[in-house]
Amino acid sequence: MSPHLAPSSRSQVPPFAVMDILARVDALRAQGRDVVSLCAGEPSGGAPAAVSARAAEIHASGRALTYTPALGTAELRGAIADHYRRWYGLGVDPGRVAVTTGSSGAFVLSFLAAFEVGDRVALARPGYPAYRNILTALGCDVVELDAGPDTRYQPTPAMLDAAASERGPLAGVVLASPANPTGTMVSREELAAIADWCAANGARLISDEIYHGITYGPGLERAASMGVCAWEVSREAVVISSFSKYWGMTGWRLGWALLPEELVGPVDALAGNVALCPPAPSQLAAVEAFSPESYAQADAWVADYARTRQTLLDALPSLGWGPAAPADGAFYLYAELGDQLARFGDSREYARQLLESEGVALVPGTDFDSVHGGRAVRLSFAAGQAAVEEAIARILRFQGA
Ligand SMILES: Cc1ncc(COP(=O)(O)O)c(C=O)c1O
Repeated sequence: MSPHLAPSSRSQVPPFAVMDILARVDALRAQGRDVVSLCAGEPSGGAPAAVSARAAEIHASGRALTYTPALGTAELRGAIADHYRRWYGLGVDPGRVAVTTGSSGAFVLSFLAAFEVGDRVALARPGYPAYRNILTALGCDVVELDAGPDTRYQPTPAMLDAAASERGPLAGVVLASPANPTGTMVSREELAAIADWCAANGARLISDEIYHGITYGPGLERAASMGVCAWEVSREAVVISSFSKYWGMTGWRLGWALLPEELVGPVDALAGNVALCPPAPSQLAAVEAFSPESYAQADAWVADYARTRQTLLDALPSLGWGPAAPADGAFYLYAELGDQLARFGDSREYARQLLESEGVALVPGTDFDSVHGGRAVRLSFAAGQAAVEEAIARILRFQGA
């Protein structure tokens, strides 16, 4: 092939291993195998009923679904701003809200608006791989912070100091709380310390708050805290969130960013050029996500996740895995495989054999941590109580065989 026709070097980002696993799950199911999949990071129940009903009305009305303003409809931007008063007691100017195509769209736009090519941006490893891959594709220099159980898999100012002195000044820090794959959260003090470090070092904090609302208390109860919003500690941060997780609206492709004033114009211009606008039908229906009924429905789902999470935590001793991340929020358990590692070599081989012999699909930690992920697996308990109970029984049989 002519070198001119080769794909760009910036497009050479690793694919998710989970995609290969999901393809194998489909193939096994097509052969009639009964597969329990704890792979997908998404609730299976769909949007809150009020959102679906509004979407049906919109489509039945036959109204033209035309482009909206690039940063979203005024109605939805206002509803998102009100949500911050309701959950966090924060006053947010709707003019600072950018509605995006999922939080994924918000990452691309805010990274483009905030960082130059060659800028160093730090993030925790293990972490959600898309941050690293989007930043790399945009020409940024990703600085991975090796975050383990001692810091609950989260970055600290000491790690940022060490990274900056080793690699050079950082232009940005991406933080997720609750995080994927570990579910761990930072406290208000820890978040403030990271924001202070960013302010002192001229770095932009990008706070991924997509799992806010899915948090757990010490017992089965839903935790009182939704998670701390970065705007509670610094208005220089970019806050990113989504309708995908708490409201279960993954395929609606709708998220948002709260932007510092200087980034609003750039994101507006970029958004208009990249996608014109986020999906109009989703925007029109999503205002219903902020109705009392929708919050109540989503909270009931979180109560279900809490029960399923407890079932999984209770099973840990018999599974012989450990250490496991605390799973303060989100719907994942990230655990090292303990004694099973000696038998299978690494988590990829463990996951492959578990899928082939017992029909249970998990994600090997290598998708989230290229250095230590070979020791860990991620299970999504959004699959529900019955799926998790069945998976535990099959895993115990697999490991006992
Ligand atoms: C931590 C985290 N951030 C962002 C996303 C992207 O979600 P979406 O684009 O659907 O809002 C995900 C999806 O799994 C995630 O786990």
